Formats: sequence, structure tokens, C-alpha cells
Amino acid sequence: MNESELRVQKIKDGTVIDHITQGNALNVLRILGITGKEGNVVSIAMNVPSKKLGKKDIVKIEGRELNPREVNMIALIAPKATINIIRNYQVIEKRKVKLPKVIKGIVKCINPMCVSNNPREPIEPVFTVIDEHPIKLRCQYCGMVMTHEDIEKQF
Ligand code: CTP
Ligand code: ZN
Repeated sequence: MNESELRVQKIKDGTVIDHITQGNALNVLRILGITGKEGNVVSIAMNVPSKKLGKKDIVKIEGRELNPREVNMIALIAPKATINIIRNYQVIEKRKVKLPKVIKGIVKCINPMCVSNNPREPIEPVFTVIDEHPIKLRCQYCGMVMTHEDIEKQF
């Protein structure tokens, strides 16, 4: 058993999001819309030592199997994350996150004139992923291209 496992114990059933870019666990929860009000046990470990990443964050959500497709959206900020589905203490499914082709409603367009930023009639921002490494998004409304730095600043 390694050090990070000693910090947060194994769970019986649920979802473990592992190898999250360090310091981003709370942003991952935000993207997933998990507030803590749902009632599930949620454990968060930040900046724990990792052989692969140096340091990483881990989020464990008990009693809930998150749909890996929904979880894919976290690739925006945690491109190396893995989603582990746990049943009766066993990892029954392990997947790397994969950025979806379209990102909806998580980041804002940086163009203040964009219709998605209209204060009177706000509409959900929609972006097409035009590059993954490093990430680049194009606004579907105004064509503005957002870089990794533009996205990072919003979290
Ligand atoms: N885990 C857990 N509860 C379980 C089983 C696993 O919380 N009942 C957690 C582990 O602590 C780990 C993650 O789920 O953070 C993945 O578990 P496992 O595949 O056993 O670990 P590794 O082999 O280290 O994973 P990887 O190869 O993805 O690094
Ligand atoms: Zn725009």
C-alpha cells in the first residue's frame, strides 16, 4: 500500500477520479456539479505524492458510479486523470479521460462582445476543441480561439 492510499482509504462502491493535476480537485468537483449537498461521502486528497505525476489530487465519490462520458469534461483541467469504477472494493472499470469534441457551459468566451457574454440574454457558451495538446478551443458563436492560459485563468 502506498502513501496516498494510506491517506484516503479504499471505498466499497463508487467512483475514484485519480491522477488529477495537482491542486485541481475542487475544480473537478465544480465541473462535475458535485457540491456535497447530494449526501454521498466524498473524499478529497490534494497534492499527494505520485510516482507518475510528482504530485496529484484524488477524488473519491462513494455510492455513485459517474458516467465516464460526463466525467470526460474534466480533461479540460486534468488531462491525465483516470476514472475508476469500484464495486465491492474492486476496480471494475478504469478509463483515461478523453476530451470531448464540444465543450458546453464550463468556460466563458474571452471576447467581451461575444453573444454568449450578452448580459441581457446570456446563452450557454459552446466551444469546439481544435487542439488537445496544448488545448485550444474555438467559440462557436464568435470564432474566438482560447488557449490553455485563457482557460486556466477561469478556474
Ligand atoms: N481505489 C479505492 N477503493 C478501492 C479500489 C481502488 O479508493 N476499493 C482507488 C485506489 O486508491 C487508486 C484508484 O482507486 O487511487 C485506482 O486503484 P488501482 O487500479 O488499484 O490502483 P493503481 O494500480 O495504482 O492505479 P493506476 O494504474 O491507475 O495508477
Ligand atoms: Zn465567443
